[in-house]
Amino acid sequence: MPNSVFKNNVVIITGASSGIGEELALQLADQGAWLTLAARSEDKLETLASECRNRGGKALVVTADVASEDRCVKIIDETLEEYKRIDTLINNAGYGSAGHLHELPDLRELEKVMDVNFRGSVYCTYHALPHIIKTRGRIVGISSVLGKVAAWGGTAYCASKFAMAGFFDALRIEQHGSGVSVTMVYPGYVVTKFAGNVVKPDGEKMGEKGLRFYGKSMMSAEKAARIIIDAAAKRKREKVLSGLGKFAVFMNKLSPKLVDQIALKIQAERKRRTEGK
Ligand SMILES: NC(=O)c1ccc[n+]([C@@H]2O[C@H](COP(=O)([O-])OP(=O)(O)OC[C@H]3O[C@@H](n4cnc5c(N)ncnc54)[C@H](OP(=O)(O)O)[C@@H]3O)[C@@H](O)[C@H]2O)c1
Repeated sequence: MPNSVFKNNVVIITGASSGIGEELALQLADQGAWLTLAARSEDKLETLASECRNRGGKALVVTADVASEDRCVKIIDETLEEYKRIDTLINNAGYGSAGHLHELPDLRELEKVMDVNFRGSVYCTYHALPHIIKTRGRIVGISSVLGKVAAWGGTAYCASKFAMAGFFDALRIEQHGSGVSVTMVYPGYVVTKFAGNVVKPDGEKMGEKGLRFYGKSMMSAEKAARIIIDAAAKRKREKVLSGLGKFAVFMNKLSPKLVDQIALKIQAERKRRTEGK
């Protein structure tokens, strides 16, 4: 077992019902973790929980919309009631929105993205932190390469993911010497339902069209989860997933103007594929 650090480790995963979060749950269950699985889709979480138990982990389901501070408190309280401590918090719940700021009918969608991706992470972290300090535990934030490099149509999503980066980087400094580690993860494209759930300016989800952008060379959720678990186990400062992601972050430091041009090209390609041209 490569990361036995998670055996009997109490791990909260937000956004556990799908994609990267679901894979994190399965792989951590393989290592014998004691999991709290949080998201809005109760049925999916219950199915996942029984699979985690079959694999040798423990699993508690908490249905919660992380945009609500009260629901985040519920995630923490129910975890403490069940397991009596918290060792690891993985702030993974999130979704994307696409569209230029000037296309948005109002700012409601932008605020919702901030509420889920940024504030949801802040609420869970704030309420879990005293307990994680006691166990000298681990906090993980799942941002995005778009939390380091801005993109076309990303005013809301990039804002939420850049905000996560600033929040968790500052928290890491604050927690220096406490034994608590803060690992920031910046995924590139990972094949999940994410692209289909991206919300357009008209309020509709991208659906099948969004999923068309995924190619065979893109990272699987299984691989992303493996890298994230390894980084958390080793208490790494940060991890950028995918070669393209690393290249984008590096180039953005070297020549941000050039990266703007590349981002425009990638988005033109994305538009071409999603519109089926
Ligand atoms: N896939 C990618 O290409 C990619 C790239 C960069 C970063 N990321 C980040 O990776 C994380 C996981 O995404 P994914 O790719 O695994 O996408 P996914 O398959 O769509 O999963 C998203 C998860 O977040 C949960 N979620 C969404 N809104 C929520 C809310 N208001 N309250 C609680 N849970 C909520 C969803 O569960 P419910 O719907 O059941 O609530 C689901 O479990 C996200 O933070 C995303 O921004 C993904």
